[in-house]
Amino acid sequence: MTTSLLSQQIEQYTETYTTAESPLLAALNRETHLKRGDAVMLSGHLQGAVLQMISHMVSPRHILEIGTFTGYSAICLAHGLATDGHLHTIEIDEELQDIAGKYITEAGLRSKITQHIGPAADIIGTISGQFDLVFIDADKSNYELYYDLVFNKVPVGGFIIADNVLYDGEVVLPPEQQSKNCRAICSFNEKVKADTRVQRLLLPVRDGLMIVRKLAE
Ligand SMILES: C[S@@+](CC[C@H](N)C(=O)[O-])C[C@H]1O[C@@H](n2cnc3c(N)ncnc32)[C@H](O)[C@@H]1O
Repeated sequence: MTTSLLSQQIEQYTETYTTAESPLLAALNRETHLKRGDAVMLSGHLQGAVLQMISHMVSPRHILEIGTFTGYSAICLAHGLATDGHLHTIEIDEELQDIAGKYITEAGLRSKITQHIGPAADIIGTISGQFDLVFIDADKSNYELYYDLVFNKVPVGGFIIADNVLYDGEVVLPPEQQSKNCRAICSFNEKVKADTRVQRLLLPVRDGLMIVRKLAE
């Protein structure tokens, strides 16, 4: 199923009235598209701007990102960090470390971002401390696991954001027509819906962002 949550014209209009992509993010976007067949995974201008704006509003001291890819969303989120803040980002594919690292350094964020390489499920527990903001954007089949692994690391009042929760519109299809990943996303969405410890907002930006605010332990 192909969804165009916003028509192309509306998308262009939205981007026109959103602060332009910085030259650095535009270069990262371009290089990712030139070098990677899976460049569609990159957040891109509008979603990157949403993440950056949320981060500025929250002004987090500690951010955890699960799924670095080429570093686009990490850079967007890190721009909103508190002065002494730090972002940890986890990526399983070590081939992505250099391109993400190059742009993180060019963005002047080298000292503010730690890149971890390996399976997120193994790494999350090794990073100490709490996270005011967590961005889940890796393998869909593990979203529920990641939610459980990070929940106790988020203080009351903190945020968990999960990407791709509309899964290209597949979420509204009957289960027998959904892909395995989509069923995992639906199960994650149900889990969040049933969680009385949180306030939730499914924001239909790009492929859908689930924004969760923790209300109770
Ligand atoms: C959608 S991309 C992330 C995009 C990035 N957050 C952005 O907005 O530009 C998902 C990334 O998660 C990584 N990934 C997949 N499974 C993983 C795992 N088990 N642990 C850590 N990273 C994983 C993939 O290699 C891929 O680079």
